[in-house]
Amino acid sequence: MREYEIRTRVVVLDEQEQNATERELISAARRATESSYSPYSHFQVGVALRLQDGEIILGSNQENASYPVGTCAERTALFWCGANRPGTVITAIAIAAQTGGRFTTDPIPPCGMCRQALLEVEHRQGTPIRVLLYGENGTHCINSVRDLIPLSFDSDNMETCNTQT
Ligand code: THU
Repeated sequence: MREYEIRTRVVVLDEQEQNATERELISAARRATESSYSPYSHFQVGVALRLQDGEIILGSNQENASYPVGTCAERTALFWCGANRPGTVITAIAIAAQTGGRFTTDPIPPCGMCRQALLEVEHRQGTPIRVLLYGENGTHCINSVRDLIPLSFDSDNMETCNTQT
C-alpha cells in the first residue's frame, strides 16, 4: 500500500493584518456584490480580480429563471477578463457574498465548477493566483488555485497516459 496526504495552508487575516493591496481587492469584491442579479437565490456574490498591471476587474453572479443558465461571480469575472484583457496575468482573486443585507461571517469558497475554471487560467498563465475569501470573521488566504483543488485535472493530464506498444 502507498499513501500520501495533500495539505492546504490557509492563513486567516483580519483587516488590520491585510496590506493595502489586499484591503483594496477585498473591498472591491464587497462592492461587486451590488451588481449581482440574484432574484432566485437572494445570495449576492462579488468577485474582484487583480491583474498584473494593477487593474481590478469586477464580477457578480447573474441568475436566470431557467436556473442552470445562471453564472457564478467567479466565471463572470474570469470570462470577461479572457474576452477583454486576453493574455493578461491574474495575480489574485477576492470573493465576498452577502444575503439578507449582511455579509457572510464565514467565507464563500468557489464552487467546484469555478475552481476548475480558475485552474485553467492559472495553468495557462503559469503563475499562481492568490485567493482571498472574505468573511466578516476574517479573510481566508490561499496561495494558489491549485491548493483549492487538489488532485486536479488540467491539460497536462491528457499527455501523461501510459502508452503500451
Ligand atoms: N455562486 C457564486 O456566484 N459563486 C460561488 O462560488 C458559489 C455560488 C452563486 C450562484 C448562485 O447565483 C448563488 O450563488 C447561489 O448558489
